[in-house]
Amino acid sequence: MQTLCLEWGAWLTQTGLLQAPGLFMTGTDTGVGKTWVGIRLIQVLRQHGLEIAPRKPAESGWAEDVTQTDTWQLAQAAGADPQQVCANRLQAALAPPRAARLAGKTLTLGGLAAACLAHVQAGQFLFVEGAGGFYSPLAEDGLNADLAEWLGLPVILVTEDRVGCLNHVLLTIEAAQRRNLTVAGIILNRQQASVPAGMDNLADLRERCSIPLLQL
Ligand SMILES: Nc1ncnc2c1ncn2[C@@H]1O[C@H](COP(=O)(O)OP(=O)(O)OP(=O)(O)O)[C@@H](O)[C@H]1O
Ligand SMILES: [Mg+2]
Repeated sequence: MQTLCLEWGAWLTQTGLLQAPGLFMTGTDTGVGKTWVGIRLIQVLRQHGLEIAPRKPAESGWAEDVTQTDTWQLAQAAGADPQQVCANRLQAALAPPRAARLAGKTLTLGGLAAACLAHVQAGQFLFVEGAGGFYSPLAEDGLNADLAEWLGLPVILVTEDRVGCLNHVLLTIEAAQRRNLTVAGIILNRQQASVPAGMDNLADLRERCSIPLLQL
């Protein structure tokens, strides 16, 4: 546990997040661990004295058991009011603009950005988790990438640590950099206990980018 904390601490310092107004959490795909990693990152940020305002601007596949939602989990981790975390709770387990249409709603980037910024107090750290991956649609008029750009926040990229993730990570870095967004850190999230012998995505990424990397 201590080693884990030290690794988090060194990574966090390198990312520059402690001096940032917030972050935009994205992934190489849906289900790669943005929330799982995010709640741990929130705990570490709080240990460094930050007060976190978590936001999930739209959550699809809204679970009947609220404790299973990203919104509730992020709120719990941050000690925040779940009512302020997510303004768009959507039943269908589809990309948010499509799930919203099925519910007779229209999501716009401006509306999502406003929902992210509402109720954020001065000095709070804005922690925004997107939906799906960086180029997944988030509103009728934009992708996750567009909201990250609108908010101007540094991006934290989560990937599942598996064969094939290098392609997705490098593509996402290039997409962010084309928009002049900073990818402040990358987290390799090992969801499976056993991986192919010899796989070392951490070493392979270190050779190809200078962004702070953390493997969980
Ligand atoms: N390192 C891990 N160890 C064990 N379980 C994990 C790990 N990472 C993720 N999970 C589990 O995998 C599932 C998907 O993770 P998570 O919900 O964090 O993904 P996500 O990227 O936030 O998905 P979404 O796109 O729906 O927001 C969850 O059930 C989560 O608890
Ligand atoms: Mg999530």
